[in-house]
Formats: sequence, C-alpha cells, structure tokens
Amino acid sequence: MLTRRQFVVGAASVGTGAIVGGASARPRYTRKLGAPVELTAGKTVAVRLTAAERSIALPCFGGRSLPMWTFADGEWPPLIRLNLGDRLEATLENRLPRADESTSIHWHGIRLPNDQDGVPYLVQPPVLPGASFHYGFTPPDAGTFFFHTHCNTVEQLGRGLEGVLIIDGDATEPYDADTVLLLRDWQVDLEGGQFNAFYTLRGAARAGTYGPLRSVNGAQNPEIPLPASGDCRLRVVNTDPTRVMQIGVEGAEAAIVAIDGIAVQPYPLAIWSMGPAMRIDLVLRAPSEGKIARLIDKSPPGRVELAHFVGKGAPRRKTTFDPAPLRIARIPEPDLKTAERLSFLFQASEAGKVISAVDDALGAALGSLCLSQEIFWTINGRPWPDRDHARLPPPLAVLRRGQSYVFTLRNDTPFVHPIHIHGHTFKLLRSNKQSRPEHHADTLLLLPEEQADIAFVADNPGDWMFHCHIIEHQESGMMGYLRVA
Ligand code: C2O
Ligand code: CU
Repeated sequence: MLTRRQFVVGAASVGTGAIVGGASARPRYTRKLGAPVELTAGKTVAVRLTAAERSIALPCFGGRSLPMWTFADGEWPPLIRLNLGDRLEATLENRLPRADESTSIHWHGIRLPNDQDGVPYLVQPPVLPGASFHYGFTPPDAGTFFFHTHCNTVEQLGRGLEGVLIIDGDATEPYDADTVLLLRDWQVDLEGGQFNAFYTLRGAARAGTYGPLRSVNGAQNPEIPLPASGDCRLRVVNTDPTRVMQIGVEGAEAAIVAIDGIAVQPYPLAIWSMGPAMRIDLVLRAPSEGKIARLIDKSPPGRVELAHFVGKGAPRRKTTFDPAPLRIARIPEPDLKTAERLSFLFQASEAGKVISAVDDALGAALGSLCLSQEIFWTINGRPWPDRDHARLPPPLAVLRRGQSYVFTLRNDTPFVHPIHIHGHTFKLLRSNKQSRPEHHADTLLLLPEEQADIAFVADNPGDWMFHCHIIEHQESGMMGYLRVA
C-alpha cells in the first residue's frame, strides 16, 4: 500500500512536462459503480434565458460592477437543474447591447438532437438582437454539464454568458452535500473598471490569454462551509475560455467519481489536469468542525488556492473514506473489432508559428498588424478561419451512422489543446503521454506531442463541431465539424 505522500509523488511523475494525469495505480476503494437506470419520461422544466448586459458586482470584483453579459438576472452563474428524464424547454432571448451581436446556446456535453446543439449557421440561424430561439430536449445522461454561447465566444463567454446544467439521477445514495464549483478567470482591469481585450494575437497563437483574476463561483478563494466529516459531492467545472488547471485538494481525502458528467469507478484524486470545458465530480470527506481543506491549482509557476472548505457541525461519518460511487451511464459501447480508424492532426499554421516565435516586444507591435485572416491553427491541415462560423467549410470527416470509430488525435504543437466533440461522448482508450483511468469524456486534454486514441459510436445524426476549447484557438482556426449521416 502506498502512503499518501508516495502516491502523490508517483502520480505527479506520470507524463512529461508540467501537466500530468491523476490516475492511481492502486485504487483503494471497494464500492462498485451503481447499475444504470432506465430513462423514463419525467416532467417538463421551462426556463427563460435572456442574454443581456447587466452591471454586476461579483464578489471577486472587489466592490466594483462590471458590464457583464449574462443569461439571467440574479445569481451568477445561473443553474438549471433537472431530473434524469425531464425535458428542458428553454427560451433564449437576445437583448445584447450591440446591433450585430448575435448569440446562441450550446449545451456542452449533452447528447441531444443536432438541431438543439446551438451552433450558429451549422445547425441553427444565429439569434439576432431582439430575436428569440426555443430549445427543447431531454438529456439522456445524468451528471454535471454546462451551457454557453457559441457566438463571438471569446467575448461573450469572456463576459459571462454561461450557466451550469445539472441532471440529477446518478447518485446511488445521498451525499452529505452537493456543491457546484465553477472555476474561471476574469479578463478585467479592476482599476479601470473594465474588461481587457478578450482576444490577443499573441495569446491566440500561443497558450491563450489568461485572465488576471481567478474565481470560484465569482468569488476569490471563497470559504465554503461543508457538513463536518461528511462525504460531499463537489462538481468542479472549468469554464474558463483559456486556463488549464491542475486541480488538487489539501487537507482532506477526495475521490474523482465522474469525468465530464459521466461516472467513473472512484479513485483517489492526486492532481487532475482540467482544460477549459472539462468537469470532474469529486467526493470529498469534509474536515472536522472548524478545520479547513483547500482546493488548489498546482499549475506552474505556483500553487494557487482556489477555495477553502470549513467543516461545520457534528461529525457525519466515522468510517474510513470509501466514497459512494455514481451510476453507470448508458453510453453506447463502441465495437473496437469493427471500428473504423481516422486520424486527426492538430497543428500550428505557418502564420501561427511566426507569431508564436517572435519576442514579446514585437508581439505587442503585432497587435496593430492587419492580418487578412487570423489562421494560427489547423486540424488535418485545414483551418476554419471564420470567427463566427458564418461560412461553412466541408466537414472534416463524414461518419456512417451507427458505425464505431477510433479516432487517433495527435497534437503536433508545443501547446496543450482541450479537444471537444459535440453530440457524442467518447471513451479514452490510450495515450502515449498520460496515465489516466479508462473513462468517458466529451473534451480531452491533449498535451504537446501527445497522441491519444478515443472511441465512440457515431449514433447521433447531424453536423457536430469538433474543436479546441481554448476559445482563442477555436476562433483562429482549430475547429471543424464531423458529419454523421
Ligand atoms: Cu463547449 Cu463547441 O463547445
Ligand atoms: Cu487549442
């Protein structure tokens, strides 16, 4: 049996460079995943989401209000909560303050019908200012998801157009608490009381532009009370447009029980690398009354405390930590024997290499340079150069409906890329860089020079976006789409 310290060191040496996976070689937990539940029709939940500018003083803004763009009045981030089997009926109204600022809602990670997927031009018209659009679907999987705009995403998401979508029905027994932790930066200049540029040439051609202000649920290092010694479910959602985090917990035991909303056999959290759009559900044994545990980002250059948990009240549990697992999701199992294989190569364009190589002084001067098209990235040599997706290229691949596929994803760049596929949940088979448990996901973090195989059944007909979720990369070429026909 490894001690905790040996385990952490062991896991941290997996992979190369700064970013590591978080798999345990020896699961210490004994409880098996719960049986899947049948999807049976539930109730209809109707919501109105009005995209508008709202002057909001998030706690992390230190008393200042900023012109955020959000989907609803009241608390940020908005939360939509359904039971598995419930149908969501969501009316989006666009009241954004610019005449040409169209919007849409993408329900990230939900395996829904193509025309509800919220990608402008590809599956629906963009929703113009003054106009509305209606979404209706029944999510097939329980878990932790989120939704966000898919138009001018770098700015609209940068200003706050997002929300959390939770579908209940995956727990095998009640946890002592259930808390959302939405992690993201803000691209703000607090002195000036305004947002900074959301997109920079140099950021787009490199790792993206990181925001200077970190937050959890809109607060800087908030104190989160948890029932003392309780087994608490923490839904950790990285919705930052850019930042890749290495999430760990100090002062408490914690297990990962779901990745991108989908249950995994619980295993100890050491460090988990989370790119934009990625989620993990943790079960954390809360500290005893008055004691503190910390959620941290261990990315270089230094450890950052994101939030801290304080135990409150009488101790809930006395047994050794052996977290209750979630229920298995009903994701179609790919047939690896008959699967067709396709390769996708993620690369920098020639312009991207040039801009990424110049030094910072020149990089700043390049800000004024007028590039006819900002194409810094390609997938299989092809960019989708159009930031608002208005002009459709042909699909990157046409998949046969019902066929199993193995995709080999290869990152031929010095930067990490969280690669997302719409409308499908895939299984990670293997990687040449990171040791991670077998799991399902909708977004996979690809390290520099990493090659990873993923598999899924192309069972959902339509045109599905396939892109990097570092939004500046997406908007400067690293996007395409797959056609399932
Ligand atoms: Cu959350 Cu096309 O993305
Ligand atoms: Cu990328």
